Amino acid sequence: IKMLVDLCIISSFLNIFFVPQVESCESSSPSMDEVSLSEFGEWTEIPGAHHVIPAGFIKVVEILAQDIPSRVLHLSKPVRRIHWNCSSHDTEEIVDQADHNQDQRPSPSPVCVECEDGECLLADHVIVTASLGVLKKAHETLFSPGLPLDKAQAIQKLGISTTDKIFLEFAEPFWSPECNSIQFVWEDEAQLDSQAYPEELWYRKICSFDVLYPPERYGHMLSGWICGEEALRMERCDDETVAEICTELLRQFTGNQNIPKPRRILRSSWGSNPYIRGSYSFTRVGSSGRDVEKLAEPLPYIKNTKPLQVLFAGEATHRKYYSTTHGALLSGQKEANRLIELYQYSFRAETTKPNI
Ligand SMILES: *[C@@H]1O[C@H](CO)[C@@H](O)[C@H](O)[C@H]1NC(C)=O
Repeated sequence: IKMLVDLCIISSFLNIFFVPQVESCESSSPSMDEVSLSEFGEWTEIPGAHHVIPAGFIKVVEILAQDIPSRVLHLSKPVRRIHWNCSSHDTEEIVDQADHNQDQRPSPSPVCVECEDGECLLADHVIVTASLGVLKKAHETLFSPGLPLDKAQAIQKLGISTTDKIFLEFAEPFWSPECNSIQFVWEDEAQLDSQAYPEELWYRKICSFDVLYPPERYGHMLSGWICGEEALRMERCDDETVAEICTELLRQFTGNQNIPKPRRILRSSWGSNPYIRGSYSFTRVGSSGRDVEKLAEPLPYIKNTKPLQVLFAGEATHRKYYSTTHGALLSGQKEANRLIELYQYSFRAETTKPNI
């Protein structure tokens, strides 16, 4: 339904026809052929207005971090492997093998997070928020023992692809004050949507340049969207090349040969970032909301071992709000609440025990 509504809005707005690039960029899918139609209604718009955070998204992280003592925050510390379901004997061995922390006494913690620098962090619970892209690439080596088969299958079935933005800053606007977006419509795009463009024609996937408003905040800035394989190709080009190609496109589509090259260019590179490997998830053909639930299910599944050793959060684990920031935030709160409830329960059990 969302697709049909968008289709009508877009076609009436442009008075032309369906623009598949726009939809596939929104879904962060290489092409609409990969997005599951039967599961399309699963995604839900959260009520309320869209907000731009004036200080940028980093503010959200700062607010979340403000009550956490800095000594317990370890940044720039890549994780090599998460050992879970460990007995105290296992933990001893893992800590012994690590380069550092020889004198750290193994506690009976069931989880041991082995970092790239060799340090092992012992924990009762770990909430993993690695992106679906990282899990797809690395889950086989990231978890020991490996993930249960159904969780590994959910990771494999769900989709994630890259949507990038290209920001172009101009000294002066070449667009009129009432213009809020410059949309590109290529004549033969309908045939090309089902397959990737030839390598050197990656720029044909750019669907539009939006004008960022107000100029008092952004200057004279355009924000372009590109997704899929073509976004990865864009990431591999240098700034100079991308700026030149975008200027040429703007000249061609507006008919204004006097458009100057942008003063500055800034691009995202979510696809080639080894800690992200994609922008956000989508429900790929053959997957469903049940796979999202499976991905979110804490380990171990079996109830008689130590509970909630490895929990999963992040946008891809939210059944209704996947692909969004609020989905990511809510999924983290949900997993934190699971832990709070676990301890509230055991605390109550302790205090009501007789003879204590
Ligand atoms: C976790 O440990 C328990 C008890 O040692 C064992 O029975 C179970 O098979 C282990 N699970 C996995 C996934 O390794």
